[in-house]
Amino acid sequence: MPITFDAQHNTFKLDTVSSSYIIKIYEEGYLLNLYYGAPIPDAYVPHREKRWPSASFSLANPRIGENGFTPDTTPMEYGCNGAADFRISALAVRNANGDSVTDIRYTGHKITAGKPEIPGMPSSYAADGEAETLEIYTLDAVTGVKVTLYYTVFAASGVMTRRVRVENAGAAACELERALSLCVDLPCMDYDLITLHGRHNRERYMERRPLAHGLQGVESKRGVSSHSQNPFAALAARGATEEYGEVYAFNFVYSGNFSALAECDHNATTRFVMGINPTDFGWHLEPGEFFDAPEVLMVYTNEGLGGMSRCFHRFCNEHIIRGRWKNEKRPLLINSWEAAYFDFDTDKLVAFAHEAKQLGIELLVMDDGWFGVRNSDNCSLGDWYVNEDKLPGGLAPLIERVNAEGLKFGIWYEPEMISPDSDLYRAHPDWCVHVAGREPMQGRRQYVLDVSRADVRDNIWQQMYAVLSTNKIDYIKWDFNRNISDAGSALLPPERKKEFFHRFILGTYDLMNRLVTTFPDILFENCSGGGGRFDPAMLCYSPQIWTSDNTDPIERLPIQFGTSLCYPASVMGAHVSACPRTGFATRGNVAMWGTFGYELDPRKLTAEERETAKAQVAEYHASYDLIRRGDLYRLISPFEDPHRAVWEIVSPEKDRAMLTLVTMRRQLHAHLIVRLRGLDPARCYKNETTGEICSGALLMNAGIVLSGIAENDGESVTVYFTAVE
Ligand code: DGJ
Repeated sequence: MPITFDAQHNTFKLDTVSSSYIIKIYEEGYLLNLYYGAPIPDAYVPHREKRWPSASFSLANPRIGENGFTPDTTPMEYGCNGAADFRISALAVRNANGDSVTDIRYTGHKITAGKPEIPGMPSSYAADGEAETLEIYTLDAVTGVKVTLYYTVFAASGVMTRRVRVENAGAAACELERALSLCVDLPCMDYDLITLHGRHNRERYMERRPLAHGLQGVESKRGVSSHSQNPFAALAARGATEEYGEVYAFNFVYSGNFSALAECDHNATTRFVMGINPTDFGWHLEPGEFFDAPEVLMVYTNEGLGGMSRCFHRFCNEHIIRGRWKNEKRPLLINSWEAAYFDFDTDKLVAFAHEAKQLGIELLVMDDGWFGVRNSDNCSLGDWYVNEDKLPGGLAPLIERVNAEGLKFGIWYEPEMISPDSDLYRAHPDWCVHVAGREPMQGRRQYVLDVSRADVRDNIWQQMYAVLSTNKIDYIKWDFNRNISDAGSALLPPERKKEFFHRFILGTYDLMNRLVTTFPDILFENCSGGGGRFDPAMLCYSPQIWTSDNTDPIERLPIQFGTSLCYPASVMGAHVSACPRTGFATRGNVAMWGTFGYELDPRKLTAEERETAKAQVAEYHASYDLIRRGDLYRLISPFEDPHRAVWEIVSPEKDRAMLTLVTMRRQLHAHLIVRLRGLDPARCYKNETTGEICSGALLMNAGIVLSGIAENDGESVTVYFTAVE
């Protein structure tokens, strides 16, 4: 049983293959966070509930023991505001009196098989027998606020999830000021905080910094999970490396404003919290109403950052991605954006399809520019009807001709936006996100559409439905090209104004849910100016996300290395483009570590590039399963080596592996030996390039020599290994 209750010690124990987690119901109903780490057989950790050295003036609950109980110096399961735990709190509720003192105590619990969904919100899922859930019920006796702490244990995956529900069971309305999803108290502060920062064209660069006393972390206030900081954070033991050492990692299943904060206190302990960013957040709860906070994925491993990533990757493929395209082979696509931008018509798209077919490409995506009068990015968002000047007769004749060329057809949308220059805006100027009396900011000459409103969502959905239900659309790219300012909705009353950001995200999820349930066969790719909403919540709807608008293969290396920290190759949108920095082969080798596709004018390829593209398409098919299901090993990281990047993918059966080397900058006289990882030491493997056969043990310990191979700037090589009997 992954979740057990020990009546002797009053503890819950949550076990996965690689971790144990212990919660204690203490005197007076306080919930203590006794342990999180490597698996242990014990159900109790005595020293963790002892009174810790106090800070000066630490305060105590006099009802407990001789010296009282000091929440501030005790590992608390879910730290609350204002009741003598001075560390960052996970929960603050302002009651009818106007104070925000919040103090929850245990009232009961339930352990069930499986995993309940979160109403209206995306979350991970479990098949029968794959997970167990613990619900711990608590009550703030003064306000009547009930908090349910949810823990789901995916024992075989090494992953736990956490979230909370806050319910106003009192007699008066109250205001939720913060309701974070997770709080963990670790007994030391000898960790490095690892996060993924970035910007447009430069997403998810890894950053590592030692924890220091006080508060540190990352957040988004942009209305989206953002290019700037990903909703991911890890606490890695100081010496932890790619392959060894303890790592605690957290990934937030949410696409809006978030906080991921670590606080180290006077006793050199660490509290880590993650959840919806309390800045610009509030939730008004009338008696009987409740609020569900989103879910956090938690991984503990002592196999370093590589072990953490492999755990997240498997979990994402198994328990986040869903629907038809979870397991079914996805079509190889070509996208029109970098090939044509807004300058296309039916004939040009059909010509793309014709050429693409010769290369073996299976799907043509018509990107931005097909609707309203959109010939540049300054108009028409919200007018989701076909521009017949470009596409005479509408979509049907175009799709028929593309299909006749042998390709499927995909289309681009940016449903949550509205251009000031659009029919929709002229008809409904109050439908953009705004606050009374202020002119909203523009980004890319567009406003954000207030999808927190049901009437607005219905309008957009009806427009989309009219197109999707009458045309043979196989794929949708869903874009989102600005951050949210002037956050407000005309319909929200003053006491609910601070609910806007979360209601906006719920509105987005509602639209996406309508799309995937009404059109379950459509392959859906998420995008936000590249990877501005690259988070596990989006992956619950779209099995792939466009990783970055930056398609330069050298600049893509850190982006893909950083992204791979918690997201698998199966979800990383990656295309070969016309970027001249490297040859065609390197562009293919880098894009192969992702969904793989093309984003160029296929008519402009040279004869040599065409042959290379055909070989890449063949390689894509041959390595499809290996890349999507395989275990990733980052052998040489571009964050550490200015000269090269090397990664390896090993099939779960350990019978195939691929290793790719990309030289970013030539290193004179380099002698390069690379040791492979993850193979079966007892099996022999054939190097498919050289024909050499040697043991997995040799490849992992003595390594292979890559000196003199692909050693000039921008060159690359992929070597395949196959197990031989
Ligand atoms: C931003 C996306 O990242 C691009 O791929 C492209 O779809 C443009 N938007 C279109 O406006």
